[in-house]
Amino acid sequence: MSLLQAVKYQRGKLEVLDQLLLPHEFHYDTVSTRQEAFDSIATMRVRGAPAIAIVASLGLAVELHNNSIAGTSDGEVIAQIDEALDYLKESRPTAVDLTNAINQLKATIRTAEGKGKDAIVQAFIEEAERIFEKDLQSNLSIGEHGAQWLQARAGASPDHKISVLTHCNTGALATSGHGTALGIIRTLQSKGYLKHAFCTETRPYNQGSRLTAFELVHEGIPSTLITDSMAAALFRTKKAENNIAAVIVGADRVVRNGDTANKIGTYQLAVLAKHHGIKFIVAAPTTSIDLETETGDGIKIEERKREELTQISGAVRVATADQRIDVWNPAFDVTPAEFIDVVVTEKGAVEKGPDGTFDFSQILPERW
Ligand code: MRU
Repeated sequence: MSLLQAVKYQRGKLEVLDQLLLPHEFHYDTVSTRQEAFDSIATMRVRGAPAIAIVASLGLAVELHNNSIAGTSDGEVIAQIDEALDYLKESRPTAVDLTNAINQLKATIRTAEGKGKDAIVQAFIEEAERIFEKDLQSNLSIGEHGAQWLQARAGASPDHKISVLTHCNTGALATSGHGTALGIIRTLQSKGYLKHAFCTETRPYNQGSRLTAFELVHEGIPSTLITDSMAAALFRTKKAENNIAAVIVGADRVVRNGDTANKIGTYQLAVLAKHHGIKFIVAAPTTSIDLETETGDGIKIEERKREELTQISGAVRVATADQRIDVWNPAFDVTPAEFIDVVVTEKGAVEKGPDGTFDFSQILPERW
C-alpha cells in the first residue's frame, strides 16, 4: 500500500495535501469548515473525482463535529446541513462522485430525523467516514478486476507482461488510496504482469507529470513520461517492442450509455487506441456512475480560467503565450461509449454490449 495520502483524517481533524505544490513541496492544509473545503476543491489543491467527494464530505463532518449547528428542531438541523451540502456541490461541476456523496449524506441524515440534533450530526459524520473508507476498498477491488480482465482479454501474466498508458492522475492522490486507473497499474505491478507504464503530461494542469510521474517513481514502477501530443507516435513506433496492450483512464462521470467524461485529452487517446488495436479501459468506482444522464451530451463540462494556458506557475508566474490571445480551456472531454472496451468498477468489469452501449443494470440493479 502506498504511503502517499491526499487526505489525512481523524474525527474532528482533516488535513489535505496541497497538490498544486507537488512535486516540489509536501504541505498539508488543515480543512475545518465548509468554506475551506470548497476552496481546496475549487482551486484544485485537491482534485480527482473521489477525492473531491471525500474532502467535501469530511470537511463538513469536521465543521459539524467541532461547532454546534444552528436550529433546534430536527427539520431545521436537516435544512442547515442540506444548505451546506448544496453550497459544496457548486465547487466543481463535472465529477458526479460529489453529487452521489451529497445525495447519500442527505438520505442518511433523514434516517435520524426524530432522534434529535446530536443523532443527526452523528449520522452525518459516520456516513462521511464510511464514504472515505469505502473508497479505498473500492479501489483495491477495481485493481483486482482490472488485472483479471487484462489477464483474460490481453493475456497479461508474469510470462507475458504488458505495457499500458495512463492519462491525468487517478492514483492515491486522487482518492483515499491505491487509485482507480493507477490502482490497476499498481495491481498489475504487484502481480508481475506489468512491463512498463507510460504516463502523459496532461496539459494544461500537468496532473500526469506533476502527480502520476511522482506516484510511479515513488512506487518504483518502471515508467516513462510523454507529452500528450506524443501518444500517436508512441503507439506507432513502440507498441510492438513494449507490448502496449491498454490505455487505462479514470472517470469523472460515466453516464447511462457508457459515454465517459474524464480529463481533457482522454477522447483523443481513445480514438488513437482504437486505431492501433489497443484496449481502452475506464476504471471507476460505481460512485462515478450517473444513471440519471442518458448520454454524454448531458454532461456539464467545466471550463477553467485562461491563465492555465497562457502562464505557468511556480515561485513566479511565467507567460507562455501572448496574454491577449483568446483561450478555450475545458477541463474535461467526453469519450463516446463506442471507443471504450470496458468499464472496470469495484463490482466487476462491464463490457460493452452488441448494441455498442453499456448495461450497468448488472452491477447496479438497485439504482437502475
Ligand atoms: O481536474 P482533475 O485533476 O480533478 O481531473 C481528474 C480526472 O480527470 C481523473 O481522471 C478523474 O477524476 C478520476 S480520479 C480517480
